[in-house]
Amino acid sequence: MPITRSSALAFLGLTAPAMAADNAVPYPDGYRNWRHVKSLVIQPGHALYDAFGGIHHLYANDKALQGYKTGKFPNGSVIVFDLLDASAADHAITEGARKVIGVMHKDAKTFAATEGWGFEGFGGGDRDKRVVGENAATACFACHAAQKDHDYVFSVTRD
Ligand code: HEC
Repeated sequence: MPITRSSALAFLGLTAPAMAADNAVPYPDGYRNWRHVKSLVIQPGHALYDAFGGIHHLYANDKALQGYKTGKFPNGSVIVFDLLDASAADHAITEGARKVIGVMHKDAKTFAATEGWGFEGFGGGDRDKRVVGENAATACFACHAAQKDHDYVFSVTRD
């Protein structure tokens, strides 16, 4: 294949579908090495099953850990909601394929419209499959707004 401008851009991951807006939430590189906050299994019959059914693990970077301790998350805090399929058999629940990762990224200026938190989802955990984009206010923040007293974060750590 001859190297054209578009193939070079595709190689660099700079083609239109992969391009993120300036105010986009960055993909959380290396989140699996961050602190594990908690896990939860959402089974059929739960009100949120359609959206969040499966097993999810939450991970927090160092700044977000400060937030979990103080109740106020500093700029640069990132929390990842890592959602995997879950199948129950023989009284055990086993992880399956990754469904999506949800990300909350604190930057008071960039994400002022949603009280300082940027929200994004990456389909299948793929950094190029942004599933929320401009819909963060309705798809994510509308529900997280209920947690205003805990800086819009639902979860708590046990340590
Ligand atoms: C219907 C309510 C609801 C909606 C809509 C929702 N969330 Fe959440 N989210 C929750 C709840 C409840 C938790 C806590 C889960 C737990 O404790 O394991 C949570 C947890 C999280 C966390 C971990 C930090 C925290 O608050 O505990 C992230 C990151 C997250 N959600 C991202 C998103 C993204 C991105 C979207 C939009 C695609 C979204 N959420 C939409 C209810 C919601």
